Parts: sequence; structure tokens; C-alpha cells
Amino acid sequence: MTDINPINVFTPAQEVKDIDRFAGRDDELTALSTALQSHGAQIVLYGQRGVGKSSLARQLAKLATNDADLIARLKQPPFETLDFVPVYLACDDSIKDIEILMLRLLSDEEALAPWVPFKVVEKKVSGEVGSKFSVKVIELGGKKTDAITERAQEMESDIVSVFTSACRAVVKAGVAKHGLLIIIDEFDRIKNRTGLASLLKTLGPEGVTFALVGVATTVQDLVTEHESVARQLADGSVHVKPMRDDELNEIFDRAESLLGNKYVFDPAARSWIIKIARGHPFYVHLVGKHSLLRAIATGTDCISEGLAKEALSEIALKGSAPVQETTYKTAIGHSYTREVILKKFAERTEEEIHTTGLYAEIGKELGIESGTVSVYVGHLGSDKYGSVLRKTRERYYQFADSVFKAYAAARPFELKPGDQEDA
Ligand SMILES: Nc1ncnc2c1ncn2[C@@H]1O[C@H](COP(=O)(O)OP(=O)(O)O)[C@@H](O)[C@H]1O
Ligand SMILES: [Mg+2]
Repeated sequence: MTDINPINVFTPAQEVKDIDRFAGRDDELTALSTALQSHGAQIVLYGQRGVGKSSLARQLAKLATNDADLIARLKQPPFETLDFVPVYLACDDSIKDIEILMLRLLSDEEALAPWVPFKVVEKKVSGEVGSKFSVKVIELGGKKTDAITERAQEMESDIVSVFTSACRAVVKAGVAKHGLLIIIDEFDRIKNRTGLASLLKTLGPEGVTFALVGVATTVQDLVTEHESVARQLADGSVHVKPMRDDELNEIFDRAESLLGNKYVFDPAARSWIIKIARGHPFYVHLVGKHSLLRAIATGTDCISEGLAKEALSEIALKGSAPVQETTYKTAIGHSYTREVILKKFAERTEEEIHTTGLYAEIGKELGIESGTVSVYVGHLGSDKYGSVLRKTRERYYQFADSVFKAYAAARPFELKPGDQEDA
């Protein structure tokens, strides 16, 4: 490929769908392949924000349909040809519980909508608090004519039975030997997840495999009522860890090759970017993209470490990482002291950060009391300053979001010594 748009060689704003852009993850792909072949297994892909869960979920869909390019990556190809119907839904905050999830799965075009011969419409049951809403099932006429004719007869039913029978119908239709694979991304955004476990238990034995994808540190975090489906999840739980340095390095190899090797990232630039990325492919894409564009603008074909550093400053200045930048500004406010403290915490590579020694060190550097340092740390844990730190136990703090932590460590200083907010 030589005529690719350089702007989209790196995609910090989007998961990787194309296998040619997908780096590393051999172990995770193998685990997913095993899970898809294990009878009765349900899948959970969990890990921190921004580590690459959605990208893996996209590859899972390909694996489930025996995609040749993906299979070629596996050290051990599947023992049988995988043949699922994969459907995909990314949750948003409007999906508050499992009933709404089922409704969305039935009506979303990337999910089950193309497979069900009817349309479901939510029918609010007014008055009764906490009652199940029922749905109106509108049977669709023959799809051959483009006009979708609604049959006169409308049926009212509860969403659970409509959903389970729709899934059964897809499985029974026999379009795929291994049945249906329902990938639900950003599952953690659903506030009330009660009822999912029971769906897994009902539909699992009938050829429906669920893949729940979301931010969590344990499977139990993601799947409420986990105990009742522990057996089904045992073979299918995949922890998506931060990417290894060699895997992050592969992102550059793939990018260079997409660019027809017209641009190269010099080894020092690669290792600096990998260092600040701390396992988050997001930063390789973000800094990679802006470095590349900067190289093109300045007429060079070699991206040096210096150029990558300039690109990072530019990212901060232009707000190219708006979520992290806004959080950064909220956290530091107008206080240089708080900015130093934020950065000192962010520089620590361990997840849980012990405060005692760090307070003394910072206090010494800034010429303030340890007690004063702890006041600022308190700020960083409060709503007003974005709640970027979380107290995990006595004398221990942790960043609420590791993507932000890496950003706070790498971003150049915003304020100068002496900058202080009004008391
Ligand atoms: N295996 C991979 N190879 C290359 N880039 C990746 C890979 N996994 C993730 N990315 C990139 O990293 C960023 C975050 O990935 P994403 O899958 O959206 O993470 P998550 O769903 O865990 O938040 C995206 O820019 C994506 O393009
Ligand atoms: Mg995601």
C-alpha cells in the first residue's frame, strides 16, 4: 500500500479493526481461540482503559469466522474451522440495565437487527415502579420488497422471552455451525448488570456465546452474579494487560510498512515513545501520528526523538488529547506546587503509590512540609480537581486512570515556579 493517507496510519481515536494494523497479542489471541473452541465457555475480555480491549474484540469477531489472515498469526491454528455468526454492540450510557441491552441488541444494525424478522419497540409501562417494560413486536413482511410492511398484527411480549427466542431462531437457522457470538463492548458502562448471568446460563447451552468486554480489574468486577456462572467463565476469561515493549514496537513496524517504508521512526524515537506509553498503545498512536505529520510538514523522512518530543508538546498545546488535557488542567488549576506533585506521583511506575517517602522527597524539593504536600494530594483526590488520585488504603494512592497517569508524566510543564492560585 503506497497511497494510504498518512493521517490515518495511526488511529488514536479508534480501535484497530484491520489485522494488518494489529500488533502483538499472540497470547490473548491464542486464549480467545481456545475459548471459542471450548464447549460451554463464555468469554470475558477485561483490563484497564486504553490497553486495547476493543481492538482485540474486533479480532475475536474475525477469529470466530475463521479469517485466514488472523488464523495465520496463531502459533496453533484452531483444531476445527471456527464458524460463528458474530454480532457486535458497543454500550453507551443510555443502556442502564440488561433489559435495555437486549432491546438494543435486537435493534442495532451491527448486532441482531439483520437477523430478526421483526422490529421491537419499547413500550413503557407507566405507573409501576421497577416493573419490567414490555415490548411491542412488529413482525416484518417479506424483505424482498424494499418497503418494510408492518403486519397488522402486533404482539406484546416481555423482552427476555423475545430476546431468547430471537437468539434461538438465529442458532436454529443453522447459518453457522457454532452458533451465535454476541460481543458486547464497554459492558462496564451498564450500571445494573443483574440478569446477565441468567441469560448466559439459559442461552449458553443453546449455542449462544457471549463475549463481555470492559474496563475491570477482575472478572467479578465486570460480571455481577459471577458465582453462578464461574464455571462457564473459567475457560474464557482473558485479562488484557498493557502491551509489552516489543508489541508496541511492532505498531511502528506496521505503520512504516503501511507508509511503504517512506518514513522511518529512528530507534531512539521509538524507545522514547514506548517509554512514555507505559504499555498503552493509545500513546504510540497519538505521538506516532503527530510525529509523522510533523515530519511530513518539515520535509524530513526520519522521525527523531527530538521531533517526537516536539510532537508531544504540540499535542498538549493544541489539545489533540482533549480528554487527558482537560483533566490535566483541572487537576493542576493555577498551582505550580500541585503540578509538581501530580507529576511526581505520575512518574511512579507502581500502581499503588506509597505516600510517606514520596511526601518527604517532594517536601524537600519544594521546600514545604510533608503535611502541606498531603493537603495538595487531598486536592488531587477531590471532585474539584478532577479526582485523578484515589486513596486505596492508609498511605496509599492510585491513579483513577492509567492513561491519564502516563499523560501527566510525559506532558511538559504548564506552569512556572511561583505560579500559585489565590488562597
Ligand atoms: N494490538 C494493537 N495493535 C495496534 N494498535 C492497537 C492495538 N490495540 C490497541 N491499539 C490502539 O490503541 C488504542 C486503544 O485501543 P482500544 O482497543 O480502543 O482500547 P480499549 O478498548 O482497551 O480502551 C487505539 O488507538 C487502538 O488503535
Ligand atoms: Mg474500548
